[in-house]
Amino acid sequence: MRFSHFLMLSLSLLFVRGAVSAQDAPHIAKKNGRFALVVDGKPYLMLGAQINNSSAWASSLPKVWPALDALHVNTVEAPIYWEQMEPEPGKFDFSTVDLLVNSAREHKVRLVLLWFGTWKNGQDRYIPEWMKSDLKKYPREISAYGKVLDVLSPNSANNLEADKHAFGALMGHVKEVDGAQHTVLMIQVENESGSIGAVRDFSAAAQKQFEGTVPATLTSELHAVNGTWTEVFGADADERFAAYSTARYVDEVAKAGKAEYDIPMYCNVWITYPVHALENRDHASAGQEYPSGGPQQGNIAVWKASAHSIDLLAPDFYSDDIVFYREVIAAYSRADNPLFIPETGRERNFGRYFFYALGKGAIGFSPFGVDYTGWTLSEDNFPTWAAENFELLRPIADEIARLNFEGKVQTLVEEKGSARQRLHFGNVDAVVSFGFPQPDGQLPPGTENGQGRALVSQLGPMEFLVTGFDASVSFQLAPAADGKRAEQQLEILRAEEGTYSQGVWQSARIWNGDQTDRGLNFRTHNTAVVRIRLQSIPMYESGGRNRN
Ligand code: DGJ
Repeated sequence: MRFSHFLMLSLSLLFVRGAVSAQDAPHIAKKNGRFALVVDGKPYLMLGAQINNSSAWASSLPKVWPALDALHVNTVEAPIYWEQMEPEPGKFDFSTVDLLVNSAREHKVRLVLLWFGTWKNGQDRYIPEWMKSDLKKYPREISAYGKVLDVLSPNSANNLEADKHAFGALMGHVKEVDGAQHTVLMIQVENESGSIGAVRDFSAAAQKQFEGTVPATLTSELHAVNGTWTEVFGADADERFAAYSTARYVDEVAKAGKAEYDIPMYCNVWITYPVHALENRDHASAGQEYPSGGPQQGNIAVWKASAHSIDLLAPDFYSDDIVFYREVIAAYSRADNPLFIPETGRERNFGRYFFYALGKGAIGFSPFGVDYTGWTLSEDNFPTWAAENFELLRPIADEIARLNFEGKVQTLVEEKGSARQRLHFGNVDAVVSFGFPQPDGQLPPGTENGQGRALVSQLGPMEFLVTGFDASVSFQLAPAADGKRAEQQLEILRAEEGTYSQGVWQSARIWNGDQTDRGLNFRTHNTAVVRIRLQSIPMYESGGRNRN
């Protein structure tokens, strides 16, 4: 081969490889109003766990991996600490990133890195010492009472520049070590941003901005008439100003990171929880009960209008109130926002939340504080629900992610007073009954702790993938709308327990008899994934003696 040909060939190979790897980087895809996190060309379902805040150290990781293995996760969320990564201005130590990436690869899981930068739970605790000690150069928020807070001002150019510089360096390094392998799937930009201690920054510089008019970019996206912050937002002006300032800051940080390596970036949210006890306490107080200016429910619109480099806003959810859970899921499941639960509780009652979120198209779900460092877990509070959920679904996670992206997954979770519920798939209904035994003529008993859950996914007109816990699932033709007697009925052709391997169904055994009578019966200690084929046959023949 002539040298010039060789050069051409090498250059074109380089070009092709470059193009493929850029295209292949993890990204969010949207189709028919549904989202997927696409990893190596396929939708990916994050069965995640977040480790404790101080666990991403070489000294702690040996106590982290066994807990993650026991949970059957496929993805780990782990922090990167700004104070450790940039001990002196402009001098970077990426040893934590390398350690996490290498050990995740050894354990065959993927990673979500959490940038503990300007914000961590609405405070600035993770900024480097050289920033903490230079309040003149890196100004703090000042409360309405003049108190100096341990929150960096989002209205300071110096603070922003420092974070952008560090985060850009981080993303450049992630690309260098992982741009080809994609162990790192997503980045959380900051942690629960917003400020604890004040509704907004009342420093002189921030006050001047607050007294100006709302930027036209924001009012036009919100379809609002222009004016001062108070004119446009009334009683919410302080909080919305904080939201705009924080969102713009975080957006600039994310943009600097994406310029180095463009993978999905999200913000987790310390959400606004309802206040109870006294009727007049109808509003949680921004800056006191949650970090003011973060992407809470009331600030989503401002954030979406102001932080275009952020792919998703993701609620951390720690309440056992399922009604509130449904509200929060609805608030963050938007046409412009993929659903992801980056942190949630470890208690048993969170088991059904995972199924509920999946049914709403979630791209991932992750209990918080999973490691054996002794901080959160003891022998009696291991998140068994998550382990059983993830153990069941990890082998078929690729299929569930794909089917969910196609809009073919539906789920049901047990709720008080509704132990029997129905899912609709065209002319076929899946009837889900929670709890056992299920004696004839009686309503299903429900479960002792209300944790029944089921998933049904349509594979073909008469074919379904079904699984769950403490639930039976039977199939019926949808009742005729006009109340007429059904002329057709369904029967099972075959119900196979099995799993998928490399996208191909592997049958382990056929279910029949007690396992399929009155529905496919998924007991907690005998659960499985079942692929069922049905057929529709006539309900009546002409010969019956008593036919009228
Ligand atoms: C939410 C934060 O995002 C986590 O880092 C951690 O502090 C948990 N709260 C503790 O419950």
